[in-house]
Amino acid sequence: MPTRIDVTNGSCVYVERVEDILAQLLPDKRVIVISDTNIDRTHHDLIAPYESILVGQGEQAKGLATLEDVYTRLIELGADRQTFILGIGGGIVTDIAGFVASTYMRGVEFGFITTTLLGSVDASVGGKNGVNVGGFKNMVGVFSQPKFVICDVALLHTLPEREFRAGMAEVIKTAILGDRELFGMLEQSSFEALRKDDALLESVIARCIRVKADVVAQDEREGGLRRILNLGHTIAHAIEKCSQRYSHGEAVAIGLHHITKAALADGVISEADGSRIISLIERYGFDTELPVERKLLLKAIEGDKKRKGNTIHLILPTAIGKVEDRVVKLTEVRL
Ligand SMILES: NC(=O)c1ccc[n+]([C@@H]2O[C@H](COP(=O)([O-])OP(=O)(O)OC[C@H]3O[C@@H](n4cnc5c(N)ncnc54)[C@H](O)[C@@H]3O)[C@@H](O)[C@H]2O)c1
Ligand SMILES: [Zn+2]
Repeated sequence: MPTRIDVTNGSCVYVERVEDILAQLLPDKRVIVISDTNIDRTHHDLIAPYESILVGQGEQAKGLATLEDVYTRLIELGADRQTFILGIGGGIVTDIAGFVASTYMRGVEFGFITTTLLGSVDASVGGKNGVNVGGFKNMVGVFSQPKFVICDVALLHTLPEREFRAGMAEVIKTAILGDRELFGMLEQSSFEALRKDDALLESVIARCIRVKADVVAQDEREGGLRRILNLGHTIAHAIEKCSQRYSHGEAVAIGLHHITKAALADGVISEADGSRIISLIERYGFDTELPVERKLLLKAIEGDKKRKGNTIHLILPTAIGKVEDRVVKLTEVRL
């Protein structure tokens, strides 16, 4: 069932087949695609009709050197303020494309076709477009909404299992922070079922986007409420900083597991809800051990860009579907 979800400032997400909707959405302008070399292999037909700029893969590609290359290519191609940038890819590509489009010639219009599960439920939605600087993730960025985002589950068929699972971490995060019914659906389902069943996956993705869109509509620039979307992310970012072993989504799963254990230890979540969260994360096949020593992670948390003096906002699950934003002293963070 095609679904359209309004986010904010006219930005709209379509959970729909690309071929059914793209032509209606693209403005009558020159379109330049930004994608990555991998997607150019798996979904060449999507990129081939347009002029394109391909970037590399992995977090190291989401840095200033890539930006310089992309801006240079845009200048070489003669892109002007009337050019429309179409980002086709996962979170790395859409972060780069959104950032480039928002800054090239002080900003041109852009849209995304998201090709990963993580991108569909999180990275491509909400208007945050960030890049890494000197090993610090998303240190430089803009709030700028894409005109549209297309999430087409058919594009996810080629996604490797590891990438699909990484996306499931953000799906589980979304269910914990804002959709108890979705959490129940995930309990009734399984990793394998979601990978096979497009209709089920579409409804899961649409629910996640609704939760995120609802939060973003209330707090686009992360002045308050939007922080709840960072559930599990303080630990995840510290893991990503200290170890190359896990991708963003995998680190988020570890973060969710440990923040739930912390909430259980503090008695802020019931034993019943806390253990349902822990078992769901385990049942979807995630590693849950911290990959580096606690003291190194705590040091990395001290360097978190969301730190304020010697305190940090920590998002704690208080029930399935509910979270609390707590300001805690860095010395009180327990892992
Ligand atoms: N801006 C935001 O609000 C936001 C939110 C969450 C995450 N992010 C960012 O998103 C990034 C992670 O995104 P991601 O997990 O989508 O990673 P990604 O973009 O690196 O994609 C993962 C890998 O899968 C490949 N791939 C993509 N689509 C494919 C497909 N359909 N078939 C086969 N292979 C495919 C890519 O080439 C890449 O190698 C991180 O940098 C994170 O910081 C941003
Ligand atoms: Zn995330």
